[in-house]
Order: sequence, then structure tokens, then C-alpha cells
Amino acid sequence: MKRLQNKVTIITGASSGIGAATAQLFADEDALVYLCDIQDDMGEGLAEEIVQSGAKAKYCHLDVRDEQQWDSILSRISQEHGHIDVLVNNAGIGGAPVHLKVEDYPVNDWDKTIAINATGVFLGTKYAARFMKQTGGGSIINISSVYGLVGTTRGASYTASKGAVRIFTKAAAVQYSQDNIRVNSVHPGFIETPQAASLLSDPQVRSDLINQTPVGRLGTVDDIKYGILYLASDESSYMTGSEFVIDGGITAR
Ligand SMILES: NC(=O)c1ccc[n+]([C@@H]2O[C@H](COP(=O)([O-])OP(=O)(O)OC[C@H]3O[C@@H](n4cnc5c(N)ncnc54)[C@H](O)[C@@H]3O)[C@@H](O)[C@H]2O)c1
Repeated sequence: MKRLQNKVTIITGASSGIGAATAQLFADEDALVYLCDIQDDMGEGLAEEIVQSGAKAKYCHLDVRDEQQWDSILSRISQEHGHIDVLVNNAGIGGAPVHLKVEDYPVNDWDKTIAINATGVFLGTKYAARFMKQTGGGSIINISSVYGLVGTTRGASYTASKGAVRIFTKAAAVQYSQDNIRVNSVHPGFIETPQAASLLSDPQVRSDLINQTPVGRLGTVDDIKYGILYLASDESSYMTGSEFVIDGGITAR
């Protein structure tokens, strides 16, 4: 039996990076995967590739900041299939300009990052919990970061948004524990993805980040996707409100 057999799953930010790798893995494990994103061409292309390989996937345009879109997409999926089993709140932005300290940080950048990275996770959890409650439960996985656990010399809004995801996850886990809805956060270290590309293209920053990582290398999307799969599957049925840290040892120092 495959690890996500018969599960209806939704992944935000699924057109690229960690979300795209997770979508492919969920499909390989026999889930029906809804890939949601605002980069429509890439998301549609990946969904088509998955379907052509014989697995089950569909693409939906979803801006995670838009409450009406969440309501209508999750209502439709729930009506079509009778249940929603897994939501991965993965969509996120890095928050620019990353080199500024708090005293110089522009408030419009703060607002945008909080809206996508934190409010987006709240909205997804809000609508998934409504439907999961009615059908016996589910698993919600919120992608935070090591910067939801520790501070950094760069930026302001990203750490705030990821810290919000960390503690919001625990509140939701406690509130829905009696409904069999598990809510956990994942905390990746420095992972090579399009989001990190501009930062990692600076050789000095790249070597600094590797030096901060005890295992001595950057992470890959594969390092993260198997952790998300575990939290999505019934193998993790005793885990809720936890912080799943996959960071090459960064926060162990
Ligand atoms: N790459 C890293 O080093 C790293 C480290 C820790 C945490 N993370 C987190 O992992 C998650 C995935 O990041 P990634 O590195 O794969 O980045 P990525 O840029 O490759 O993918 C992020 C996806 O989110 C989508 N997105 C952005 N705004 C959106 C919106 N408003 N609505 C819907 N989708 C939207 C983008 O279109 C993109 O497809 C993010 O939450 C990120 O903060 C990444």
C-alpha cells in the first residue's frame, strides 16, 4: 500500500521548489494532489506531467492572501471528493531587501511578507479545518523555517512571519486535537530553491550559509519533501503541534 493512498491533498506554492518536489512525491505515493499557486503556467505544466506519468493531480490558481479564493476552492474540492485529508501551507516569499536591519526596513515589505507567509497560513488552516472537522480529521503542515526558531542578521519580516507560523501551528493543533486534525510545522534550513537563488548566487553569502550548517552543505528539496510526506501520512498520527526541524544542524549549535 502506498503511503498516501486515497488521500485528497492540497499544496500551496506547488509550482516551484519545495512545493513542486512535494507535489511530485505525494502523487508517487498515490495521493490526489491539488497544486495551488499564482505561477499558473509552471503549476499547470507540472500537474500535466504528473497526470501523464499515470498519477493524479490538478492545478488551481490560488493567491493564499485571498480569503474568497480559499473558500471557493476548498468548498469545491470538498464537494467533489467528500473529504480533504492533507493541506501543506508551503507558499512563501523571502521578504526583500534581506540585507536591511530593522531600523531601515520598509513597512510595505513587512506587510506583504506577513500577508503571504503568515496570513496565508492562517487562511488555509481556517478553511481546511472547517472541512476536515466534518469528515473525521486530517493533517495540516505549515512550512516555517529555521528563522521561525532563531534570529538572523538579515531582514525583519521573514523571521516575524515564520515565527508566527510556528506558534500559530501550536494554537491550531491544540484547538483541533479533539477533531483528529493534526497541525505541525516544518523548519527547513538553507535549501537550494528558486526562492533562495538570488541570495545563494553571492559566493560570500553562499559560503557563509554553508559554514553555519554543521553538516557542511546546503539542503535540497529532497531533504525536506520526505519530512512533509511523513507528517502527511498516518505514520505520524501521534504528532501534533510539533516543530519538525530539517536544517543540517543549524539550530543545534
Ligand atoms: N529555500 C529555503 O532556503 C527555505 C528555507 C526555509 C523555509 N523555506 C520556505 O519553504 C517554502 C517554499 O519555498 P521555496 O524555497 O520552495 O521557494 P520557491 O520560490 O521555489 O516556491 C515558493 C512558491 O510560492 C508561490 N507563491 C508566492 N506567493 C504566493 C501567493 N501569494 N499565493 C500562492 N503562491 C504563492 C511562488 O509562486 C512559488 O511557486 C516557503 O514558505 C519558504 O519560506 C524555504
